[in-house]
Amino acid sequence: MEKERLLCPSMMCANFENLGKEIEMLEKAGVDIFHLDVMDGQFVPNFGMGLQDIEYICSKAKIEKDVHLMIENPGNYIDTFADLGVNIIYIHPESDRHPMRTLQKIIKRGIKPGIAINPGTSIETIYELLPHVDYLMVMSVNPGFAGQTYIDSVNAKIEKLNDLKAEFGFKIMLDGACSPEKIKELSPKGVDGFVLGTSALFGKEEEYETITQRLRTL
Ligand code: DX5
Ligand code: ZN
Repeated sequence: MEKERLLCPSMMCANFENLGKEIEMLEKAGVDIFHLDVMDGQFVPNFGMGLQDIEYICSKAKIEKDVHLMIENPGNYIDTFADLGVNIIYIHPESDRHPMRTLQKIIKRGIKPGIAINPGTSIETIYELLPHVDYLMVMSVNPGFAGQTYIDSVNAKIEKLNDLKAEFGFKIMLDGACSPEKIKELSPKGVDGFVLGTSALFGKEEEYETITQRLRTL
């Protein structure tokens, strides 16, 4: 049975002292997809997880892994991430002159295609890509950093996407300052999955299992 909402821990926020233990505890807590942020210091002014981190997580994890490519010209690196064993690849259309070609590359590798769109990117500019994605991730913060503040103006975009998702069949995912309150507010508005970072999951007093059980019932 399909789960109500997808919980996707942002592994750049995990405790790197013992990544293997983190993976085990998060899988025991019943999370759905490991969210792996990749950054190049160009498309976003930061650096995320390295190829070695991703290789390790892909080798250890039992559940699905996605990579969120916050990099210029992601089309040049699809094979790199496909070879590491990820299941979903998100590209930013803002970073690619030919996003359609890149999405076709992802599909050809048997990987599920996604696009992540920045807070300032309109649906109209990516409308033609909608038939070609399984996931549409709405950035509710400017990409590249954890611990930021939710940008309320994306709520209108979420409502418009919710009207479109039945036609195109994509899932709506949210990335950025996904707090328990936001999960409660936005699930009924059509958001199918949430990237969990410092707002909802990491750096808290409670066990991961306690937190995820609560997030499922909000
Ligand atoms: C943002 C990153 C995520 C996420 C972190 O580019 O993809 O790591 O925002 O979660 P928060 O925002 O809750 O710290
Ligand atoms: Zn991300």
